[in-house]
Amino acid sequence: MNLSNGMGATGDPPEEIIVCHDPEDLGRQASVSFIRFAQEAVSLRGRFSVALAGGATPGTLYRSLASAAFSEEIPWKSVHLFWGDERAVPPDHPDSNYRMADEALISHVPIPSENVHRMPGERSDLQAAAMEYEEALRIFFKPSEERWPSFDLILLGIGSDGHTASLFPGSPVLRETVRWVAAPYVEKLKAARFTLTLPVLNHARRVIFLVAGKEKAPIMREVLSANPPLTDLPARLVQPRKGGRLFFLDQEAAGLIEQEEKDCG
Ligand code: 6PG
Repeated sequence: MNLSNGMGATGDPPEEIIVCHDPEDLGRQASVSFIRFAQEAVSLRGRFSVALAGGATPGTLYRSLASAAFSEEIPWKSVHLFWGDERAVPPDHPDSNYRMADEALISHVPIPSENVHRMPGERSDLQAAAMEYEEALRIFFKPSEERWPSFDLILLGIGSDGHTASLFPGSPVLRETVRWVAAPYVEKLKAARFTLTLPVLNHARRVIFLVAGKEKAPIMREVLSANPPLTDLPARLVQPRKGGRLFFLDQEAAGLIEQEEKDCG
């Protein structure tokens, strides 16, 4: 089921909610959009810049993209992978977002190694590492008049508390207006993280949220509600100025979305 409203700057609707049968179906349907955006970006700009999401849910998308059915549709030589966030761990650590993407996707597709721009979670000085990653983004995007990079696509998950990337409710990093990359300490996790900041997410041409599971139904009702909750949920603050927000939900995560949210056409 595909529900959308209006038209965005990219010619897409500003918001689409795609309710999928299950996580595997979510991976397949999101793959179709990923391929469309990749082919469009490469034909228009000669490259496709995408920031990958962490956590578990994107695994079905990454495995789907690596499958023969989809992989051959993607111009891997012109694809550049970045990360929306990363844990403060080495790339071979079980918690590493890079490791998850490498096992599910990167090691199975012909993407040049120099096109894989990993966040260095292994570094002891995360603040310095965040500044170095930001510098690498500045070199890649070379923003002329724009102060912010325009990723062609940013993939995001949503936590049960409404966090996205490593932007957690109440975090001071939500008020960042200068830095592109931050290394906040996340009290809830008792751990430091790397994350792209909110203005970077909001300057993406498109954002895809990937959300699955019954435990996400309550937060998705809040995130998509026409009546905003009292506290600012980070996932609600992601409103790309130029492009569209696509929500790929499985039926369980979409289970509490009010009918009017679904009739957003
Ligand atoms: C991370 C992610 C985080 C994740 C959500 C949802 O590094 O953990 O960036 O924002 O997307 O916590 O995670 P799941 O998809 O595993 O539910």
